[in-house]
Amino acid sequence: MSCPVHHSVQMNPVITPLEWLLGTWQSEEPGEGRFPTIQPFRYSETLQFSHVGQPVINFSFNAFLVDSKKPLHRECGFIRMQPGTNKVAFIVAQNTGLVEIEEGELTGQHLNLRSHTIARISFAKEPHVKEVSRTFELLPDGRLEQRVSMATDSQPLTEHLRIAYVRSP
Ligand code: HEM
Repeated sequence: MSCPVHHSVQMNPVITPLEWLLGTWQSEEPGEGRFPTIQPFRYSETLQFSHVGQPVINFSFNAFLVDSKKPLHRECGFIRMQPGTNKVAFIVAQNTGLVEIEEGELTGQHLNLRSHTIARISFAKEPHVKEVSRTFELLPDGRLEQRVSMATDSQPLTEHLRIAYVRSP
């Protein structure tokens, strides 16, 4: 899914604290996936963050098998900020049939989110996800890091994903 970046449109001031996310990011080293109930795996991922002048960031994340580039997990959605605060809402739909609203706080260039609402299609695969926590951080070397932990029916909140991206020109 492509998510066009409208450079010509001025950014809405409400979301300027999130300007550091904008653009396309590509994993350089494979990301690391793990969970107590699965085999560890490696993956590559492209992130796109854009805006169209609204007080909203549009995003689309596409993960692939490292070698074959076979499409895997996909997420898309919107990021909003409560005006005048550092409160952030991350609204996401996943190709697995999961939809979530995560909320949290922006501190500098570190976004810390936790799910407060999770819903899924009636025939979603088990185990069901009960909670997600996720961080995005701009590292001192200019890379973007994403970490995701989840709790399921059978496991407490545990790391699932850790990956760093470089900005695409
Ligand atoms: C917030 C995002 C994500 C959520 C909530 C999520 C959730 C899950 C869940 C519930 C499982 C099953 C765990 C179990 O059997 O106990 C799983 C497995 C897995 N996830 Fe994720 N996942 C996410 C993102 C990703 C991404 C980005 C990838 C990248 C490739 C990925 C790859 C996998 C793989 C390979 C497995 C093991 C095989 C399978 O069950 O399909 N996941 N994930």
